[in-house]
Amino acid sequence: MSDSNVQIFDTTLRDGEQVPGCKLNTEQKLIIAKQLDNLGVDVIEAGFPISSPGDFKSVQEISKIVKNATVCGLSRSVKNDIKVAAEALQYAKKPRIHTGIGTSDSHIKFKFNSNREDIIERAFAAVSYAKSFVEDVEFYAEDAGRTDNEYLARVCEAAIKAGATVLNIPDTTGYCLPSEYGAKMKYLKENVKGIDKAILSCHCHNDLGLATANSIEGVINGARQIECTINGIGERAGNTALEEVVMILKQHSYLNLDTNIITSMLYGISQLVSDSMGIYTQPNKAIVGANAFAHSSGIHQDGVIKHRETYEIIDPKDVGVTESAIVLTARSGRAALAYRAKNIGYELTKLQLDEIYINFLSFADKKKEINDTDIHQIIETSKVYRQIASA
Ligand code: KIV
Ligand code: ZN
Repeated sequence: MSDSNVQIFDTTLRDGEQVPGCKLNTEQKLIIAKQLDNLGVDVIEAGFPISSPGDFKSVQEISKIVKNATVCGLSRSVKNDIKVAAEALQYAKKPRIHTGIGTSDSHIKFKFNSNREDIIERAFAAVSYAKSFVEDVEFYAEDAGRTDNEYLARVCEAAIKAGATVLNIPDTTGYCLPSEYGAKMKYLKENVKGIDKAILSCHCHNDLGLATANSIEGVINGARQIECTINGIGERAGNTALEEVVMILKQHSYLNLDTNIITSMLYGISQLVSDSMGIYTQPNKAIVGANAFAHSSGIHQDGVIKHRETYEIIDPKDVGVTESAIVLTARSGRAALAYRAKNIGYELTKLQLDEIYINFLSFADKKKEINDTDIHQIIETSKVYRQIASA
């Protein structure tokens, strides 16, 4: 792995699947896991094996079919969780156990009724035990976003001493500002002894709509793994959206950070996840929403028809969308109408276009969107078109 490479850790099947009412069965999970592997993700978090026999089976079956990616199973810092995760991962070519514990004062006091020193000991013990099963052990410091940096650094040091290969710094509650999250990564990079032995990982939640921005700040400040989900699905407001971080790094090449993702597969896998989980993707969702490459105002349409880049920073083909859409509404101009008419076989003269456009506007004022059948009807019933066509 080069220093510019950012590993993509997909947790659609674990954190993503925690969306209420969106449970997937093993068969659906296998289809998604296969596509994630083809997409080029580096790690697939396949589930939380101790949580249910169904999740155990899914992790086990996914481990058997994944060819390239590391397959990861979640556990708490509890011996039996870790043992069961190791069993579920036994067929994986590249297994990883993801274990950890809450480190914020709030988690230490209210969740564990414990103290900081005890949590460090438990973290060390959990990673050491996981290392007795697999070489690749990722440690998560739950609620790291609200954990004091000095203490977090001590927890990370203990995890590295026990053999952790990856240190996950979750902003579990989606609380941090990008500058804060970036500074946290920088602090850890500069203050944790032995940090070069492990990769720092961003795991951001979207409660304030900052998950993507925080993950990007994380990698700018030294992290080299992003944990994310397709379409940003996940508990509450969701997780970092895979397609967003991948395309940000691709579009901003001066950051000199890249991923192994085949971006032309993004739209297809977004549809697959949305259909399988029955979660509708908002139309204005970045990269994969139905309107992400649709232009409906006259000024924008004219600009895009003349030169696509005027209003588009991404070539739709780069993310698997066939082409930009010129949507006809009452806000559209003549250029858009002429363009759509040409697509269905009408080369309109200026005179024809002027009259047809007036008819189009009165039609469009009554209907939200004008489709190809409407365009046929508007043109064929237009007087000026009939006169010239029959002359
Ligand atoms: O958000 C979080 O803290 C998590 C951990 C369990 C990794 O999902
Ligand atoms: Zn999470």
